Amino acid sequence: MGSVSLNIGEGTARFKKGTFWSSAVNLLMIFSVVTTNLFALYALTSSPKHQPDHATHNKSLSLVSEQVSLILREISSSQRKLAKMEKELLGYETLDISRPNIANELKLFLQHHQLPLGKDSRTGITEMVAAVGHSCEKSTDLLSQYMTYKVSGPCPDDWSLAQKLILRGCEPLPRRRCFAKSAPKVGLYPFPTSLWKPVSDKIAIWSGLGCKNFECLNKKKLSRECAGCFDFVNGYENKKYVTARGKNDFLVDDVLALASGGIRIGFDIGGGSGTFAARMAERNVTVITNTLNIDAPFSDFIAARGLFPLYLSLDHRFPFYNNVFDLIHASSGLDDGSKPEKLEFLMFDIDRILRAGGLFWLDNFYCANEEKKATLTRLIERFGYKKLKWVVGERVDANGPGKSEVYLSAVLQKPARV
Ligand SMILES: *[C@@H]1O[C@H](CO)[C@@H](O)[C@H](O)[C@H]1NC(C)=O
Ligand SMILES: *[C@@H]1O[C@H](CO)[C@@H](O)[C@H](O)[C@H]1NC(C)=O
Repeated sequence: MGSVSLNIGEGTARFKKGTFWSSAVNLLMIFSVVTTNLFALYALTSSPKHQPDHATHNKSLSLVSEQVSLILREISSSQRKLAKMEKELLGYETLDISRPNIANELKLFLQHHQLPLGKDSRTGITEMVAAVGHSCEKSTDLLSQYMTYKVSGPCPDDWSLAQKLILRGCEPLPRRRCFAKSAPKVGLYPFPTSLWKPVSDKIAIWSGLGCKNFECLNKKKLSRECAGCFDFVNGYENKKYVTARGKNDFLVDDVLALASGGIRIGFDIGGGSGTFAARMAERNVTVITNTLNIDAPFSDFIAARGLFPLYLSLDHRFPFYNNVFDLIHASSGLDDGSKPEKLEFLMFDIDRILRAGGLFWLDNFYCANEEKKATLTRLIERFGYKKLKWVVGERVDANGPGKSEVYLSAVLQKPARV
């Protein structure tokens, strides 16, 4: 008894704006400690003056403990007040940065920075605010683990932790001040030879992955878009988009012939190992492939092919301006089987970045049932696109249980809306 520790998290005093509040709390803390000690002293010194009978002793003891619990209540209430002030100061109401294990680097990152010359007349802003996903709040423990690193030192080798956060909607991530691990990329080929050359295992960092090489990955069906998708020797990958397995498989040259006004830049959503972008690159069309590194180093692989990987979850608004792409290619990866609104959010964003007259190529979209097909059809029809191609077909999933599945493939042209 007699000493009370107050945990306000180290580093609070490092905040310029927070200094006043931390001094206040420090004073309060000192006050509490002193009072508690005084009570303890009173208890110890006062009892021998009287007869040391149990009743009095018990009474003074209970008096002291009553006072102590009162003080503790006071302290925890001021802790709560401090936390509230800190949140207000930082302006991130939803992120509970007052929790005991929040990394100081996270607080620093979140701090607003006033513009040195006051309000900027062009943009109207007065301070720079760090962008951080509000869903990070759901995973503060993971986030704090992620943000605990040595500034200017090597980043912890924990990209799978980062991806875990992204998949929980914590995007963009707040880590900025360490050096990411960077192994030498061995065996890169010049473009366009790089498009179809086998990629060395050495181009990727395999930590956090089940497989440790591409040979292992090629034995797995990672998704509908990637069954043996790193293998350019066996299988279908090097024939994709140039030979059809069925009526649902459109060929790139057929689709490009449908376009008016030229197809020069495109965006591939959930593009596996980048084969769509590779086929397009051969036709002088620049395609960005959107991918995460789920179960495989997709980004590294795509980059090694000399293509542009975009590391972004589909929950994120696409980082492109309106009406910019000539072509958007997507397949089953669009749908994660959750709420229908989710697919809608995505479709509207695709529509936003596609230019008028541009093509939306829905490639072998898997429809789990008739209802799914109907919902998707209704959704697509709401956008008023012109159906240049529309094929609903069945396909036996060779890598799956062998029963036939329904797929929708379509090429749709975006109308102008004014
Ligand atoms: C003092 O407290 C102790 C433990 O709580 C109890 O066993 C004892 O009976 C109490 N004595 C008196 C005189 O109340
Ligand atoms: C791609 O561009 C190059 C260089 O301009 C040109 O030589 C080649 O014919 C083009 N290929 C196609 C398929 O248009």
